[in-house]
Amino acid sequence: FVNKICRSEKDWSMKDLKPALISEMRTATANGKGVLMAVSGGVDSLVTAVIMHRANPDNLYLVYVDNGLMRNGETNEINKLFQKMGFKHFEIIDAKADFLDKLKGVNDPEEKRRIIGHTFIEVFEKKALALKKKSDIQFLAQGTIYPDRIESAQPSKAASKIKSHHNVTLPEKMHLKIIEPLKELYKDEVRELGEELGIPKERVWRHPFPGPGLAIRILGEVTEDRLRVLREADEIFISELKKEGQYDKIWQAFAALLPVKAVGVMGDSRTYENIISLRAVTSKDAMTADWAKIPYDTLERISTKIINNVRGANRVLYDISQKPPATIEYE
Ligand code: XMP
Repeated sequence: FVNKICRSEKDWSMKDLKPALISEMRTATANGKGVLMAVSGGVDSLVTAVIMHRANPDNLYLVYVDNGLMRNGETNEINKLFQKMGFKHFEIIDAKADFLDKLKGVNDPEEKRRIIGHTFIEVFEKKALALKKKSDIQFLAQGTIYPDRIESAQPSKAASKIKSHHNVTLPEKMHLKIIEPLKELYKDEVRELGEELGIPKERVWRHPFPGPGLAIRILGEVTEDRLRVLREADEIFISELKKEGQYDKIWQAFAALLPVKAVGVMGDSRTYENIISLRAVTSKDAMTADWAKIPYDTLERISTKIINNVRGANRVLYDISQKPPATIEYE
């Protein structure tokens, strides 16, 4: 219908989109003013940062907030990556204690998201004000993609808000102009664009990771010890999936920590420990998802390895829920 009857040309391609976006961003920021951006190490913010960097390399200011809710080794990896990619102004803010302190005793998912969002804004705003004093920053770039707008912005009266704030914006008083180069793209298009931009493949094909981090995969209170249990289990799960060639077939895989304990037996002793739930889904755009049909023997190896190696976990479950009605994340 589109091509034959409406006679629309097939003239849209990712190859053309790359220079078009870079030049659009160059024009948008042509006044020589600075562009501020928070990066997470995820695909969306990385692709956005590379576009903004190509458009305006000297005036891009990147900030990474370490909220203490990242996976094992992640902050280190991100630091190395950004150094290697040659970004001129890149800074890591260690705000771990701040976030974990504010999350103490908090169990409610929306409350966690609210606290994380607010703390992020507080930390980022402080940095933004300090940077603004030194350099003339006028823009705020964000890695918002199309599904983010659908799920959190309530695009119409009919669509209800599922979870609060996928991406956070700075308060209006900062007077920064928001720039969102990826706002019309789906995740697979962002990845294709990332490859066109020459971003390393393993970064482009990394599974998505939510802004509120492990806090929304820990049901119940977030504590240092529960974070440790989850991190260790997640690391085993992901590295086994990679080893067995399953990782790239899956949209997103992760471990979650349930808010109940179960009885088990280790040697001659009774244990009363945490339950790890493994979630792996296939999807095209995260709007709907199916549980991944990981082979039983792979699941068995992962479960054994987690129970044998992670102190504080004595039971592993595999989540077989579809989205909808379940969501991909647990909170
Ligand atoms: P759900 O759980 O809503 O997730 O099925 C859909 C996709 O969005 C990711 N997600 C988030 N990403 N901040 C993010 O940056 C968030 O607050 C957030 N919540 C969910 C989730 O990982 C999945 O890919």
